[in-house]
Amino acid sequence: MKLVLMGAPGAGKGTQAQMLKEELKVPHISTGEIFRDNIKKGTELGKKAKEFMDRGDLVPDNVTIGLVENRIKEDDCSAGFILDGFPRTVKQAENLDRILEKSGDRIDCVLNIEIPDEKIVKRLSGRRVCKHCGKTYHMSYSPPEKDGLCDLCDDGLIQRKDDRVETIRERLNNYHRQTKPLIGYYREMGILKEVDGQGSIEGTFESLKKMLGVNE
Ligand code: AP5
Ligand code: MG
Repeated sequence: MKLVLMGAPGAGKGTQAQMLKEELKVPHISTGEIFRDNIKKGTELGKKAKEFMDRGDLVPDNVTIGLVENRIKEDDCSAGFILDGFPRTVKQAENLDRILEKSGDRIDCVLNIEIPDEKIVKRLSGRRVCKHCGKTYHMSYSPPEKDGLCDLCDDGLIQRKDDRVETIRERLNNYHRQTKPLIGYYREMGILKEVDGQGSIEGTFESLKKMLGVNE
């Protein structure tokens, strides 16, 4: 299944994708994760992306589209994938369609996780991620078993640099301006499904599975 997860910053895309990939047995591709990984390794791509990400701006389309095109050509994507955080502009969406069309393919479903703006700051300022495996926690809503340590690999948890309040506001502005128009784009294509992301992590996961017709 070729799936796109959409939603504002902090809507729960990464959290749900980490669970859905086990269910659907397809890779989870987060452009944000790929950029952060490249920043950590000090690559050219990381250097290009960093200045935009630190400001809460989108990385330019010409950098991002090529990156995804190469990633979805890899063998592990032959049975499908979950795209998290891509596409984020109409230009990215049009290019994704064009890339898939070349092999007679298309996106099967776009799941839009909805959450009001006022909940986003609380979600993002409490987020912590494992610096080793990237598993996501929340200090109040989804804390680790041992304070400050990942349940899976016992490594330390860190806060993302773009989760400072001023940067969160900028990311949110950019979401409304550049990414929200995609809702109409996919609605018109007839592949958009909308889910309320305000419930619990598990409740949202159940709703997503139901929409995808995945059996419990
Ligand atoms: P990216 O990493 O994609 O960030 P984002 O879209 O801003 O989304 P987040 O990762 O912040 O939120 P999420 O929806 O994944 O929420 P999460 O599950 O973690 O992108 C980062 C940057 O990279 C961008 O700003 C841009 O610069 C660049 N970039 C990436 N893709 C790009 C592209 N295509 N084009 C251009 N630039 C691009 O959950 C958040 C918190 O809430 C967690 O703590 C979690 O535990 C908690 N939580 C989740 N669900 C629930 C729930 N139901 N109840 C309570 N708490 C919950
Ligand atoms: Mg994420």
